[in-house]
Amino acid sequence: MSDLTFNKVAGAVLATGLAIVGLRELSSGVFAPHPVDKPGYLVQVAEGGAEGGAAAEAPIDWGTVLPTADVAAGEATFAKCKSCHSIEQGGPNGTGPDLWGVVGRKPGTHGGFAYSPAMTDFGAKQPVWDYEHLSEFIKGPQKYIAGTKMTFVGLKKPEDRINLIAYLRSQGGTLPIPAPNPAAAAAPEAAAPADGAAP
Ligand code: HEC
Repeated sequence: MSDLTFNKVAGAVLATGLAIVGLRELSSGVFAPHPVDKPGYLVQVAEGGAEGGAAAEAPIDWGTVLPTADVAAGEATFAKCKSCHSIEQGGPNGTGPDLWGVVGRKPGTHGGFAYSPAMTDFGAKQPVWDYEHLSEFIKGPQKYIAGTKMTFVGLKKPEDRINLIAYLRSQGGTLPIPAPNPAAAAAPEAAAPADGAAP
């Protein structure tokens, strides 16, 4: 290697080094580390207690909310149920029973499905699946009917359940929509804004 070549190589190496140091300086200026206000994540988990979620929630006035519910949104939400339930008339039972006409049906009585004893017992006390019982069941199946074999976490948002139940009703449901009763929705413990209290 001649001296000249050596100088060229050394120069190139030096220039590269300088460039790297320069870039690093530059980027630390551009991407200044931001101080973190809160370390880590704050994960908010609804308390599991039976009263936990329920206390804050206003009773739903079905007569008011059902006529204006978003059935298409409810159908979209039903995607969460489809892995276990069909909802066609005469549809097959899957992991769960076919849900055609479930609104107004006696709980635990769909032909050809082996219900849990818990669901059969529930059906012995409860003549039909009405809006309120469906809503409570779908909100937290295993909390509401201890021992049910429906292993679904539940839909916590009232709007999701309202839209979903409006969709279920549109699929062969036999229960009429009750008259609006805003007073019921504005009942005692309804501290939360009474969604649906307005006409
Ligand atoms: C992991 C499977 C699974 C998912 C997901 C699921 N279910 Fe179920 N569902 C079941 C099973 C199993 C039963 C029967 C429960 C029993 O016998 O205790 C059931 C029962 C029911 C019943 C009572 C039916 C009757 O004939 O009395 C309703 C209503 C219902 N499911 C609605 C829903 C809705 C709405 C969703 C979606 C938000 C859903 N399920 C999601 C498995 C599931």
